[in-house]
Amino acid sequence: MFTRGVLHILISIYSVILHFSGAGSPSVTPAISVVIQQRKIHNAVTPRGKGGRSSFSGIAATVFGATGFLGRYVVNRLGRIGSQVVIPHRCDQYDVMYLRPMGDLGQIIFLDWDARDKDSISRALAHSNVVINLVGREWETSNYRFEDTHVNIPKEIARAAKEAGIEKFIHMSHLNADIRSSSKYLRTKAVGEEAVREEFPDAIIMKPSEIYGREDRFFNHFANMRWFGRAVPLIAMGKKTVKQPVYVVDVAKAIVNAIKDPDSNGKTYALVGPNRYLLHDLVEYLYAVAHRPFVPYPLPRPLYHLAARFFEMNPFEPWTTRDKVERFHITDMKFPSLPGLEDLGIVPTSVEQKAIEVLRRHRRYRWLEAELGETKPAKTVNL
Ligand SMILES: NC(=O)c1ccc[n+]([C@@H]2O[C@H](COP(=O)([O-])OP(=O)(O)OC[C@H]3O[C@@H](n4cnc5c(N)ncnc54)[C@H](OP(=O)(O)O)[C@@H]3O)[C@@H](O)[C@H]2O)c1
Repeated sequence: MFTRGVLHILISIYSVILHFSGAGSPSVTPAISVVIQQRKIHNAVTPRGKGGRSSFSGIAATVFGATGFLGRYVVNRLGRIGSQVVIPHRCDQYDVMYLRPMGDLGQIIFLDWDARDKDSISRALAHSNVVINLVGREWETSNYRFEDTHVNIPKEIARAAKEAGIEKFIHMSHLNADIRSSSKYLRTKAVGEEAVREEFPDAIIMKPSEIYGREDRFFNHFANMRWFGRAVPLIAMGKKTVKQPVYVVDVAKAIVNAIKDPDSNGKTYALVGPNRYLLHDLVEYLYAVAHRPFVPYPLPRPLYHLAARFFEMNPFEPWTTRDKVERFHITDMKFPSLPGLEDLGIVPTSVEQKAIEVLRRHRRYRWLEAELGETKPAKTVNL
């Protein structure tokens, strides 16, 4: 009791001295309160604990596009180190409940959002110090063209993040994003990179190659081609395309490590797997792991596009599109000057290590548990 009384007297004397010395003059006090009030970050963002899911990492992240393929891996990585994750979604809340156990109790927060409503974007990131934009789409709809999903929405999110004083903003682009690309997806991704940099110059841009993992639309896509006549159509037999796919867990780790890295702001990362393969050899390997006969045939581009046009008529998720055909037949670019997975402390995982995760479900029951040992690794190239 005595010490607390003395403490109060000392504090009163100190504030009187501050008042008369002018140190607490109005020009200083409001500046401090503005900084504190501008970011209404919860007290809980102070890191604490041993680093598990019940500790706190200091990361309060809003993940736009968390309901997609990559999103679940990113949320999982954030949740397991004890982060708060805000998940804006536009579907029924019960459809995203699989994300809830990925973090500690109360740390995964769901919010409705509409990508065209600026207020809903601002609301979603108001209490965060990190924003991750995973919004993207492989096909256009009548409501959302590629320009919307890859340029306008990222631009609005970047602008809102800048206005809110967010410390880290991560944007997902594509390795082959190029304004001259034959794929509109890749052209708009290139424009999106520029738009995001304009709004948020310190944004961290991730450029992954095609990502593979259990729920992917790359390995699964080629493996599912056997539905159509048990043969795989490839432009020029896939011998003119070089691919360097990257494992989804490596990409998710890269995002989390970039958040933790104090030097990552403003950088662009090229995220690729350790090996390059001819598309033909890669697909051959996928079929070998799935224990399915590989029967490739060369399909001329116009005919492939014609077939894809037919699938595009699907009003829901088209199995393929002309743009996807183009994108899958574009050789992965090399960016030796850009930092990559290794610079974020990640050893890239090879296709031979993880393809089985995707392909086991494409095997017949007879081969379900077959060892990988007998499967010859795919031939790598250095083109
Ligand atoms: N997968 C790859 O191989 C790959 C390779 C390179 C780059 N990338 C990029 O990485 C990011 C994540 O990829 P992903 O494979 O996880 O994509 P995904 O599975 O298609 O998920 C995309 C996410 O974006 C959301 N989204 C799309 N359009 C939207 C709209 N108009 N309004 C609101 N939300 C919208 C989706 O929400 P709903 O669930 O509500 O539709 C979903 O959460 C994307 O930007 C993608 O372009 C992916």
